[in-house]
Amino acid sequence: MLKDKNIIVGVTGGIAAYKAADLVSRLKKEGANVEVIMTENATKFVSPLTFQTLALNPVYKEMFKEPRNYDVEHISLAEKADMFLIAPATANVIGKIANGIADDLLTTTIMATKARVVFAPAMNTNMYINPIFQRNMEYLKELGYEFISPGVGMLACQTYGPGRMAEPADIVEYVKNSFCNKDLIGKKFLVTAGPTIEPIDPVRYVTNHSSGKMGYKIAEEGQKRGAEVILITGPTHLTPPEGVKLIRVNTTMEMFNAVKDHFDECHVLIKAAAPLDYRPEVVSDVKIKKKDTEKDELNIKYIRNPDILDHFGNRKKEQIVVGFAAETNDLVENAREKLQKKNLDFIVANDISRDGAGFKLDTNVITIIDKAGNVIDYPILDKGEVARIIIDKVKAMMENKS
Ligand code: PMT
Repeated sequence: MLKDKNIIVGVTGGIAAYKAADLVSRLKKEGANVEVIMTENATKFVSPLTFQTLALNPVYKEMFKEPRNYDVEHISLAEKADMFLIAPATANVIGKIANGIADDLLTTTIMATKARVVFAPAMNTNMYINPIFQRNMEYLKELGYEFISPGVGMLACQTYGPGRMAEPADIVEYVKNSFCNKDLIGKKFLVTAGPTIEPIDPVRYVTNHSSGKMGYKIAEEGQKRGAEVILITGPTHLTPPEGVKLIRVNTTMEMFNAVKDHFDECHVLIKAAAPLDYRPEVVSDVKIKKKDTEKDELNIKYIRNPDILDHFGNRKKEQIVVGFAAETNDLVENAREKLQKKNLDFIVANDISRDGAGFKLDTNVITIIDKAGNVIDYPILDKGEVARIIIDKVKAMMENKS
């Protein structure tokens, strides 16, 4: 994915500098050509030799020294870079760049580059929330500099809060995504994910096993490829993909209304969610008390929720509408029936009783059936790969329409 990309990693002086070694190693494994510039302070945390060995390139530190080549180092690095990645980025380096200070090799090179510059901040929580730092960061964002949000957790300085550098694996993911083919710019996707929940009383509710993983991967793939993505999600434990507009809902009616609010403005609706088909007719507004008798029973009458996909599939204009079918038997027959009844462009059928398919897992096994009658079976795949296949098919259909 990063083959032939020149990534200049700027390492500044913070304890997270040790994580930058892992970052460089991961970028190399992805095929990037990595060159490292260290600030003076960074060399106090990690030896330049570490980075030189991992990057298989010399490490740059000083502004004024005998040149290795006959070009001016900060200019040649600035020009060859496809991306500058400053990790860890201290409050100091961010403050300097925001204020036009170029007093060492790293800040001078950043000032001289036209390449994208991405900061992965790492600092004490109070420094991170300090309005001066926040103002500098916001100003740089306005100018087009990019930031990878730090994590929240226990920091080396024994405080708890935001400021911990994003994990190297997540930074590499960000870098890979940003070089991904942006073939969906100008398209709006509406994706639903996760379960819905239907309350019984203020304490209890009914739901299903959906984790949201399938829908989140679809939203992430669309966003990576440049689409504007609205992700309508039932309750999940997942971290939403960066850059998508997130709408959280609980019940199927809430999901219905959220889809209704955005359907007309979207080019594509993909319904990977597993909304509950029924809800209790009456929701008690006080906790239902159990009785201390052996024969105690709780009988709840359930009534039908709207079928969101059916509703919008049958009202679509130019939109491409994609459904899922979670089945335990007669996969293709049942899915084909849903495809027709709900007026879909294609349906992604998964037999949730199969190994490696369905709820909660990182993998799925799908069969895609489209309105032209094509049926394609896929082997067990990572849900990210399934998402790519679905988005590729949506894109091909959009091209055929225009
Ligand atoms: O979330 P994960 O843990 O990753 O699991 C993924 C998944 C199994 C939930 C996903 O791959 C999947 O199959 N989603 C659809 C689940 C489902 O509700 O299937 P269904 O066959 O009951 O519904 C068919 C289609 O109608 C689905 O697109 C569903 O979103 C939609 N539907 C269903 C009921 C309803 N009231 N409104 C709907 O829009």
